Amino acid sequence: MNKNRVLVIQGPNLNMLGVREQNIYGAMSLDQIHEAMKSTAGENNIELEFFQSNLEGELIDKIQESIGTCAGIVINPAAYSHTSIAITDALRAANLPIVEVHISNIYKREEYRQKSLTAQASTGVITGFGPLGYHLALISLAQIFTQIEATNTAKNEAKEKAQKETAK
Ligand code: DQA
Repeated sequence: MNKNRVLVIQGPNLNMLGVREQNIYGAMSLDQIHEAMKSTAGENNIELEFFQSNLEGELIDKIQESIGTCAGIVINPAAYSHTSIAITDALRAANLPIVEVHISNIYKREEYRQKSLTAQASTGVITGFGPLGYHLALISLAQIFTQIEATNTAKNEAKEKAQKETAK
């Protein structure tokens, strides 16, 4: 596993960005958003993999594949955020740092969008910042990876110290 590999998962209708409801989601296409993310990833020593699907089962398969191959996930489950127990379960099973992103502010929108099931399986949620949210998600994950590494180093040092003490 690459310790800084991040899987970016985009749910249904996000392949239509730049075309669909520009007043809500803006003018950038998904490819343009992904292209821009590459520079933020590079600055933060993150390697990216992108995946988009309109199918719930494909999203779940991809989340399952991330186990053991990725260090974290950025996901915009789109409409499935509000309905999918199956994607929520898959995210929980992945047991990785996960940042959920929404381009629009879901709390300012229709009532049925104001609850996210998948957010309950995520480390944190970024909502309402447009495409910038994806960059914020990468920066958040980079910080989380640094923290995990520091904790692991401290644990290993403590373990080595304890072993040396018992060997005396
Ligand atoms: C969305 C918000 C969802 O409610 C909606 O179904 C989407 C996009 C967002 O990024 O703002 O498709 O996840």
